[in-house]
Amino acid sequence: MAAKKLFDGIFWVGAEDWDRRLFDSLIPLPDGTSYNAYVVQGRDLTVLIDAVDPTKKDVLERHLDQFPRIDLVIANHLEQDHSGLIPYVLGRYPQSKLLATPAAKDLILTHLQVAEDRIKTVADGERLDLGGRTIRFIHFPWVHWPETMLSYLEEDKILFSCDLFGSHLASSDLMVKEEERIYEPAQRYFAEIMMPFRKIIQKNLPVVEKLDLKFIAPSHGPIYARPAFILEAYKKWIADRPENSVLIAWVSMHGSTAKMVEHLTEELASRGIKVRPFNLAVADLGHLAMSLVEAATIIVASPTILTGLHPLAAEAVFLVNALRPKAQFASFIGSYGWKSRALDQLKAMLDSVRIELLNPVQIKGDPRPEDLALISKLAEEIYQKHQAAGLF
Ligand code: FEO
Repeated sequence: MAAKKLFDGIFWVGAEDWDRRLFDSLIPLPDGTSYNAYVVQGRDLTVLIDAVDPTKKDVLERHLDQFPRIDLVIANHLEQDHSGLIPYVLGRYPQSKLLATPAAKDLILTHLQVAEDRIKTVADGERLDLGGRTIRFIHFPWVHWPETMLSYLEEDKILFSCDLFGSHLASSDLMVKEEERIYEPAQRYFAEIMMPFRKIIQKNLPVVEKLDLKFIAPSHGPIYARPAFILEAYKKWIADRPENSVLIAWVSMHGSTAKMVEHLTEELASRGIKVRPFNLAVADLGHLAMSLVEAATIIVASPTILTGLHPLAAEAVFLVNALRPKAQFASFIGSYGWKSRALDQLKAMLDSVRIELLNPVQIKGDPRPEDLALISKLAEEIYQKHQAAGLF
């Protein structure tokens, strides 16, 4: 398969990964993913923007066959799904240089073992004249590593954004054709990759909004022909205000904690609060992460096993702490047999999030009416908190 021409002198040379089902050996990819790389030709210079995952080397090799000359390779991001084949590309084009941010240099030396004299660092705002085409480099750290940058092709008004605005979706369409189809994969991507850096994106997004944009070309998923679509979605996802919803991450062994979850779900719903319960024994963690993007309250529901949290609940708490969602409130409910340290464990694990802990409900054995009354009280407390926060 040949490279795909996007416009005169601009080509997609990436790879679709239809069958990949896990990223980082952790993140479910129900729709596969893509690794987008682009060749941009000016009168004087030809550049390759990013590369593809090393598992797709044969695809990149074939795509590059029609480009006898690459003068410069731009590494917007050093994670291996974009950079792993850069040593191969530099070997294939021995006269070429690698352009990246100063923060990327150490990663290039250690992760890719590229010779130092092949690397040229670029400053924030620096322009590269290709001859009739100009690329402006925009440093944008933490999307998703500290060294990341965006490359803006000024005359064509295309932003090559690498991970930022990406979606895990393999598709035969290079451009987004149905925006409603891309929303969920893009939100899943944001939840799993970008959410921990929400505040940094908040700070830097105005730089992107000021650009004159016709296209946003990320390195995962299709290209946005209407940049406002993904910019508006990001503005909603990174905003501090959550929605009036409660996420319940729950697991039950003998049904007691499940009864508590069922009662809480009904009590919250009857108060006009959107509830999203996730049975951790069967839940897709990607769906859970997506719900974390907007939830105002997180409830962890776990039985006690060997005096502590159920391992599936501990995994969910670990994820919440790592992804640092915008939720304002949290609580814990669960049943135990004779003794429990589960609540203390949960508190200790949530050390990266600033979140108000509401009254937990821990009960011994199967819930009795007075135990369910405590759950109703928790639902009312959540309702009052959401009202006070202006979420209705
Ligand atoms: Fe697609 Fe952070 O790599």
